[in-house]
Amino acid sequence: MQRVFSGVQPSGDFHLGNYVGAFRQWVADQADHDTFYCVVDLHALTEEIDPAYLRGKTFEAARNLLAAGLDPKVSTIFVQSHVPDHPRLTWLLECTASMGELRRMTQFKAKGRGQETVRVGLFTYPVLMAADILLYDADRVPVGEDQRQHLELAREVAQRFNTRYGETFVVPEAAVPRVGARVLDLQHPDRKMSKSVESPLGTIAMLDGPEDIERKVRKAVTDTDGEMRYAPDEKPGLANLLALLAVATGRRPDVVAAGYTRYGDLKRDVAEALVEMLRPVRERAAALAADPGAVEEVLSAGAARAHEIASVTYARAASAVGLLPSTARRS
Ligand code: TYM
Repeated sequence: MQRVFSGVQPSGDFHLGNYVGAFRQWVADQADHDTFYCVVDLHALTEEIDPAYLRGKTFEAARNLLAAGLDPKVSTIFVQSHVPDHPRLTWLLECTASMGELRRMTQFKAKGRGQETVRVGLFTYPVLMAADILLYDADRVPVGEDQRQHLELAREVAQRFNTRYGETFVVPEAAVPRVGARVLDLQHPDRKMSKSVESPLGTIAMLDGPEDIERKVRKAVTDTDGEMRYAPDEKPGLANLLALLAVATGRRPDVVAAGYTRYGDLKRDVAEALVEMLRPVRERAAALAADPGAVEEVLSAGAARAHEIASVTYARAASAVGLLPSTARRS
């Protein structure tokens, strides 16, 4: 069975982009893959984040992954910092990756732009991400479009390591959905929907209720020519709505476009379809909120299973580069 790994940062509320670009695939992959899903709290430290907020959001993220439809009986769901092999392997991979290739990462350039100081961790972030993936011998990594370049880097680093030290890592493939891989901000269709709180009206939270979803979709920015066609470059706002309705109803965006003449009618149906798509997620979240013990158990079992696998991969990599195995006894 193929192995799947993916991760999400607990740095804010999950939104429609996370659900459509990533979580839907994560849920679908459970049927026929060995699936590992991780709340990447170490990645959240690469930018300013309040410690108490991080702690709360990490727990909430795990709960909301269950709400999104992950089944802990099938998937291994865990918190990155609970498995010590992630930072350990990161070091070996930092000694494999080059400054030049990290400097080319567009996310680093975007996040670092205009900052007075940039944390070293923000620069090496994609290496930690490569370690996440390679530790589990993942064949397939379901992600949205914005992670594609990081996946390329993980592949490069794995290949270089294998060439230098002998076959050690599985070289992973990115799995990016054909539609919905880049959900745009409803108010600013020139940028992706994101966890930052700058655009509350442009962001649909995964747990938003029907009224919020309807209001945000109604106010979504489109264009003034009124021409109904799927043209992501020329008409990004409209294309975004068409893509969302396509994803929610299992059709192609151009086919969806052919069924409408008026933007208002389209928006009404987009809102309705999103409300229905997210209804079971919201219902599961409400049920889980009443049972925090259940989430704790999932994370504790998840960390144990993840560690079992990750520690073996780490030992293989450490041995390959020539680190002497420790024989120290631990009590
Ligand atoms: P993060 O937390 O930003 O996002 C989690 C997942 O959601 C996808 N996504 C989107 N998809 C479509 N439209 C959007 N507007 C949108 N916004 C986010 C992301 O592509 C991602 O799949 N570095 C990663 C987390 C990570 C990871 C990993 C992922 C750490 N280690 C190993 C895969 C494998 C991140 O910050 O994702």
